[in-house]
Amino acid sequence: MNNSKTYYVCQSCGHISPKWLGRCPDCESWNALVEEREAPPRPSRGQRGSRGQSPIPITLVGGEREERFSSGIQELDRVLGGGVVPGSLVLIGGDPGIGKSTLLLQSSGKISQEGNLVLYVTGEESASQTRMRANRLEALADSLYLLTETCLEDIIDHICRLTPAIVVVDSIQTLYTQHLPSAPGSVAQVRETAGELMSLAKSSQIPIFLIGHVTKEGFLAGPRVLEHIVDTVLYFEGDRGHAFRILRAVKNRFGSTNEIGVFEMKGHGLQEVANPSELFLAERPTGVPGSIVVACLEGSRPILLELQALVSNSNLGTARRMVTGPDYNRVSLMIALLEKRVGLQLAGEDIFLNVAGGVKVEEPAIDLGIILAIASSFRDQPIDGKTVAIGEVGLAGEVRAVPQLEMRVREAAKLGFERCLVPCKNALKSEQEMGIGLLPVDSIGGALEILFS
Ligand code: TYD
Ligand code: MG
Repeated sequence: MNNSKTYYVCQSCGHISPKWLGRCPDCESWNALVEEREAPPRPSRGQRGSRGQSPIPITLVGGEREERFSSGIQELDRVLGGGVVPGSLVLIGGDPGIGKSTLLLQSSGKISQEGNLVLYVTGEESASQTRMRANRLEALADSLYLLTETCLEDIIDHICRLTPAIVVVDSIQTLYTQHLPSAPGSVAQVRETAGELMSLAKSSQIPIFLIGHVTKEGFLAGPRVLEHIVDTVLYFEGDRGHAFRILRAVKNRFGSTNEIGVFEMKGHGLQEVANPSELFLAERPTGVPGSIVVACLEGSRPILLELQALVSNSNLGTARRMVTGPDYNRVSLMIALLEKRVGLQLAGEDIFLNVAGGVKVEEPAIDLGIILAIASSFRDQPIDGKTVAIGEVGLAGEVRAVPQLEMRVREAAKLGFERCLVPCKNALKSEQEMGIGLLPVDSIGGALEILFS
């Protein structure tokens, strides 16, 4: 007998509607509503027979053991905020095929090779497939246990029996709980199973890693409910066409969210990249108009990236603007500044702007680089390849100070760059101390004059 109520949930924004609609009235996305059934009522606390918690003064709460342990992969530790926290529930999201299973299998291998028990639950691939992969990744160990199971209740039983040091669930979308009639991967199932695993992680202090797929539309199945439930959300991103992958924290209850981990996908798995700037600049062409190097800050680490602009006369009525990497609106603003403050006639021009490698950067410190790349392509004049541009640009065309300038400039000097455009407003040490030529600029007009006159 099943008399639970049916309703419809928007996969994109979580809007709930009593009837199916082709378009979500809230976020206006098409075909995003999926059927859900209400969960059966849960027994009340008294019926469950559990002892309720009582409120206690905060000063009497025992300090949490913050004994993090290493995941065996330094870049992953860095993104987690310094290692794996006992009892944490971590979600790793990303496109299919980006390397989520590979990363966690490698980490599982490393942890188990240290003699710890690891349970890898796979609902996607068979045990023999996973073994073959582990073989290639050199992740085989006697204490790495595989479990091909998708029923949550059984998985929890096994976890309680084995008490592993860490659990990996690949993937959350394949799990189902017997308490709900809806299919695995549905919003209700994802929410329920993740919630159960969260309480298990907290009560047993066993850290659990969940793998989650990002759907084509770019959200995790289960209208971001997962992101709210878990402690930490990491996204694995990267261009399929390129070998490097970036692991980024978007939520972290145990650390900062602006650290990134950089990896390269090789024949024998993911390899950590200790110096990302070198990797991102490896294929840089020299003497080509429209290319400039900028210095971003990702967490505590400066990274140099190449910006590439292509400005070409538009054959269509309306000029096209295509941006990959930086924020589209920010680039539109820079184009408007070039027109208004320096008089470049860009209205009839198609403008394409990329960060080489497709890395997402939203830091205003690349503003000056955007301005210079577009101007360089428009004028068909290359910028000297040993130059780095750093600076935020304001609406009056002024170049503004950026945080941690010294760290960025040092990275440029380390990689053999010879001069650096920096904001006048930043206080900086001498050229001798920094080991690189410094060109302080106060406006975009001034920067263009230095490079193109
Ligand atoms: P996978 O970890 O299965 O992706 P996900 O779990 O995120 O769906 O990664 C699969 C891709 O990685 C696949 O296209 C092949 C590639 N790959 C390598 O290049 N080298 C390797 O050693 C492994 C294991 C995978
Ligand atoms: Mg996988």
